[in-house]
Amino acid sequence: MELRRQHLIDPVVCIRCNTCQEACPVDAITHDSNNYVVSYEKCTGCRTCVSPCPTGAIDNWLLTDAPWTLDEQFGWEELPESHPALGATIIETPAEVTTLLDAATTATGGRVPAPASAAQPYTNIYSREAPVTARVAGNMRITAEGAESDIHHVVLDFGANAFPFLEGQSIGLIPPGTDDKGRPYNIRLYSVASPREGERSGYNNLALTVKRVSGGIGSNYVCDLKKDDEVQVAGPFGDAFLMPDDPEANIVMICTGTGAAPFRAFTERRRRNAADASGKLMLFFGSRTPSELPYFGPLMKLPKSLIDVNLAFSRLPDKPKQYVQDKLRERAADLVPLLPHGKTHIYICGLKGMEQGCDEAFADICRLNGMDWASLRATLRAEGRYHVETY
Ligand code: A2P
Repeated sequence: MELRRQHLIDPVVCIRCNTCQEACPVDAITHDSNNYVVSYEKCTGCRTCVSPCPTGAIDNWLLTDAPWTLDEQFGWEELPESHPALGATIIETPAEVTTLLDAATTATGGRVPAPASAAQPYTNIYSREAPVTARVAGNMRITAEGAESDIHHVVLDFGANAFPFLEGQSIGLIPPGTDDKGRPYNIRLYSVASPREGERSGYNNLALTVKRVSGGIGSNYVCDLKKDDEVQVAGPFGDAFLMPDDPEANIVMICTGTGAAPFRAFTERRRRNAADASGKLMLFFGSRTPSELPYFGPLMKLPKSLIDVNLAFSRLPDKPKQYVQDKLRERAADLVPLLPHGKTHIYICGLKGMEQGCDEAFADICRLNGMDWASLRATLRAEGRYHVETY
């Protein structure tokens, strides 16, 4: 008997964050409103998707005598049983294709590791099936009165339960209730906005930055939470988008909207633990207007000796539209010495479109200053010093 090894995603553990679909170099992963699925015909077993997955749902390789189709996988609520291997000839994913794809993955950058000096994160302590209960300590709107964006700062208290996390990690919230097919809702992933000690030392809490999206199950649930409500939390997730602990590290942070959450965490970590660090903090923050920018007030109060803040506003009346990438170009003179510096780390977090815009800005800055961005970026990635999280 011949059995094939098929790459599959566990629907129970998957948090539908789209990371695997983005990582796949051959478009083998797709999704519907129910599940993320892998095409047996397209998947080459290159495993590019495996390490970026924050939950491990991606790492399932079952044996089957007839590969499951996409339609079958879309309908699953859990993984089927793997076929018993006893006495069968097992056909693994073709090795020669894997080798070819490994080369392609290396060419496109592959998996970016955590910065060398980052602390060791805990991941996946709690899951959708075994979450931890947290209590809402507060929920505050942080965009100005009348602003179009309704962005909330939500503080969750873990009380007597352990919830160790690092700056740059995410947590999953599980909205109560069921979807239109009667199944429990999937986990919604949010970046932690607090440093590892939480909002206040001596309290076992953390903050999230959440924007209300019209019709969004997760964001409306979180933005409507009241003080003392209980929430079910999974995580923490993420082991690469972490902050270097080295005080000499220069950290260039580029974000739009709620993409600011991890950078609030990074900045607070530096402010509280290494305010006189020699490494520079540079923030590029894009927003429609000042009143749409989360944490505008506190950000403006940070000392210039701690952080170099550059705001790009795209919808100011009578002003040309500015994006973060325009600000990068404006600050080229200060970025030029930082870019080739072995202790510089670059982080991008926010809207999908900004990734390409920032990449082009860095390429221009490098070209005009005798540097090659493509090779510099490859070095930064390989050394865990270039991280992108866009959605
Ligand atoms: P825009 O005014 O063109 O929408 P949002 O408020 O929707 O979360 O967006 C945050 C900021 O990011 C806004 O200023 C928005 O500008 C800007 N933005 C939109 N697309 C891009 C892009 N491709 N690159 C950089 N910034 C962008």
